[in-house]
Amino acid sequence: MQHNKVLILDFGSQYTQLIARRVRELNIYCEIHPYNKIPTTVSDYNAVILSGSPFSVRGEDAPHPDLSQIRGKKPLLAVCYGAQYLAHFSGGEVAPSNTREYGRANLSFIKKEEAFFDNINEGSQVWMSHSDTIKHLPENGILIASTRDVKNAAYRIEGEETYAIQFHPEVYHSTDGKQLLENFLVHIAGVNQDWTPQSFVEETVEELQNKLGNDKVVLGLSGGVDSSVAAVLLHKAIGKNLYCIFVNNGLLRKNEFESVLKQYEGMGLNVKGVDASKRFLDALAGIDDPEKKRKAIGNAFIEVFDDEAHQIKDVTWLAQGTIYPDVIESVSATGGPSATIKSHHNVGGLPDFMKLKVVEPLKALFKDEVRRVGATLGINPELLGRHPFPGPGLAIRILGDITAEKVRILQEVDAIFINGLREWGLYDKVWQAGAMLLPVNSVGVMGDERTYEKCVALRAVESTDGMTADWVNLPYEFLQKTSNDIINKVKGVNRVVYDISSKPPATIEWE
Ligand code: XMP
Repeated sequence: MQHNKVLILDFGSQYTQLIARRVRELNIYCEIHPYNKIPTTVSDYNAVILSGSPFSVRGEDAPHPDLSQIRGKKPLLAVCYGAQYLAHFSGGEVAPSNTREYGRANLSFIKKEEAFFDNINEGSQVWMSHSDTIKHLPENGILIASTRDVKNAAYRIEGEETYAIQFHPEVYHSTDGKQLLENFLVHIAGVNQDWTPQSFVEETVEELQNKLGNDKVVLGLSGGVDSSVAAVLLHKAIGKNLYCIFVNNGLLRKNEFESVLKQYEGMGLNVKGVDASKRFLDALAGIDDPEKKRKAIGNAFIEVFDDEAHQIKDVTWLAQGTIYPDVIESVSATGGPSATIKSHHNVGGLPDFMKLKVVEPLKALFKDEVRRVGATLGINPELLGRHPFPGPGLAIRILGDITAEKVRILQEVDAIFINGLREWGLYDKVWQAGAMLLPVNSVGVMGDERTYEKCVALRAVESTDGMTADWVNLPYEFLQKTSNDIINKVKGVNRVVYDISSKPPATIEWE
């Protein structure tokens, strides 16, 4: 079945992915493409949205794509830079703005466009973020809304399904932004709202069956959301021809290997658990540089996975839990467009499993959509709601060199912290949490005895994508109880601190 679909042309705005997520929330399928790579199949799209941009349309390097295949031929919504670009190139005028146009504003309708402003009231709050402004509308432009500081806040082009808005409907602060997108896409462009987790599952299973036939597929499970959902989807499509490998690198959380393996088995997956803890710890011996640790772990993983994949006879595909943000080509804000696509090259010098054909069933989905698809597939909500956990695991939370004893100490500390978050109902309020074992000893007293033991730092952050983060204001009572529990129960630790650094400038992990 062919879904209706929307094309989002990206001019490099930090909000472009947010536009796509809002559109998807309306159950409409959309794709982001860079402005200078307009798909040749543009006529297959039902509507087009032009994104914002850090550029000024008057700048020399500014994106100036040819819109002749789109303008007047497809329903078009131009946002912020898009609205300025449309004006600039159609006889209007864009100039630097005299007043600061950043933050909240309120709409005043000049001409109440019934379909476009349906269910949106006069005074509705919108979010502005621009330094240029549209001084004169383009040819055939009709002003439809203003704000106090921005006269040309929204306009349309007479005789076309072309609309332009200076504000950002995709951000949370534009109160009726989602309604406006729905008005444009559904009421004006007539796009079907037919993209749902259920339809995604049904169609993907069918596609996978056609693509894979009786072929065998190998997949590395990490215990995280993406690889788990990819596995269940593939399992639904090809059953026992999916071979899952779950490697214990010895750097997972306490009891995680056993409990997650059991969960996977419970889901009916054909999964092999491989305990390679010793191999990883040996590879890490004496290494204290964070990047060298990552490399050693990456190499050990490739060796273990390659050994295991070799034992599956006639396997021809490698499945990966790649998601949409990993494959969107991004437009660089500081120069020409840059491609940041992850790809696999079938060239020599790679381990054998990387020469397999690659299948990535989740590569059209955002993270929250992966979770919804997982829920549709009946995956345990606890597994779907798990915090992100780094591939190198506790290795980058043990500062300095790694020993089995340090791993044991940190596993105990981490378990008290994470279980506590769950017991206090705080786990789902936190985006990611963990403990760091510091390479310092400090003096303490326990009973009448002087101690000289390890210090641990607890970290809990709020974030949406890990790119920026802020520390979570956990209740004092919780921190107090957690600290007491750790010091009383974990031998070798006599001091607990809480990390109150935001990212930037600090990172989430300490290494
Ligand atoms: P930072 O420390 O850079 O972390 O603020 C951002 C997010 O990325 C995770 N992270 C990693 N994940 N391999 C991974 O798979 C790594 O080497 C790695 N380093 C950091 C981190 O846990 C956080 O979610």
